[in-house]
Amino acid sequence: MNQHNFPRHVAIIMDGNGRWAISQGKQRIEGHAQGAHSVRQVVETCRKIGIRYLTLYAFSTENWERPPAEVEALMGLFLKYLESEQENFLKNDIRLRAVGDLSRLPEAVQLSLKGMLDATAHCSSLDLCLALSYGGRSEIVHAAKQIVRDVQKGLIQDPDSISENDIASRLYAPDIPDPDLLIRTSNEVRVSNFLLWQIAYSEIVISEKFWPEFDESEFMKCLEVYAGRDRRFGRTQNTSESSRELSSDEVGHSSAS
Ligand code: FPP
Repeated sequence: MNQHNFPRHVAIIMDGNGRWAISQGKQRIEGHAQGAHSVRQVVETCRKIGIRYLTLYAFSTENWERPPAEVEALMGLFLKYLESEQENFLKNDIRLRAVGDLSRLPEAVQLSLKGMLDATAHCSSLDLCLALSYGGRSEIVHAAKQIVRDVQKGLIQDPDSISENDIASRLYAPDIPDPDLLIRTSNEVRVSNFLLWQIAYSEIVISEKFWPEFDESEFMKCLEVYAGRDRRFGRTQNTSESSRELSSDEVGHSSAS
C-alpha cells in the first residue's frame, strides 16, 4: 500500500469496550480504560504514517444517559488522557481539537481540554479531534442557529442564496475536511449520529475487533480495505478518475483521494 492511497482524514466509532470487558470477566469501565491504550496506538500510527486528521467518537450526546458511575469514570479517563498527553503531543507536533457540546462536560475536563487546545494550537502534523458530548444532529442544529443569527444580522437576505457551503462552514470544525474513511469496530453497522453531514461520501469499513483489541495491525488492515475501494462520489468510473482535479466543494467537501 503506498502512501498516496492513505486517507487524509480517518474518523473512528470506537465501539465494543463494554463487550470486551464482559468477555474478559471485567467491569465495563475496564474496557474503556483498555480502550484508551488503543487510542494511543492509533494516534501514534497516524502520526507515523502521515494521516493528517483523526476524529475519534469518544462520547456521544446519547452517552449522557448511561449510568452516572460509568459517565463519571469516562470523564475521569478523558481527564487522565488529556493530562498525560501534553508532552507527547507537543513532541510529536499533534494538535488537539474537540467537537461537540463541550459546555456539558465537567469543569475540570473543560479546563484541561482548553489548556491542551491552546497549548497545541500551533502543531500541524496531525489534528486529533475528539468528539465529546457530540451528536451529528445537534451539530446541524447548531449550524442552522448560526444561519438564523446571520439572517437576523442581515448578513443573509435571500433564502435561495443558502448553499451547502453555508451549512458546512458553520459546523463545529469547518476547516477539517470530511472524513475519507469511517471505521467502526465491534462488527456493528450503524453510524450512530456521528458526523452525519460530513460522512456523505466517506468509505465505511467495519472491523470485527472490539475497540480495546484494535491495534496498529488492525488499523493497517482497514487502511488496506480503503485503498482498494473505488471512490466515485456519485460519478461513473471514468469521470471519477479525474476527481482529483475537482475542488473540495464539488466532491462533498472532501479530499478527493
Ligand atoms: C463505546 O463502547 C465506547 C464509548 C462510549 C467510549 C469511548 C471511550 C474510550 C475508548 C475511552 C478512551 C478515550 C479517550 C479519548 C482517552 P461501548 O461501551 O458502547 O461498548 P459496548 O457496545 O460493547 O457496550
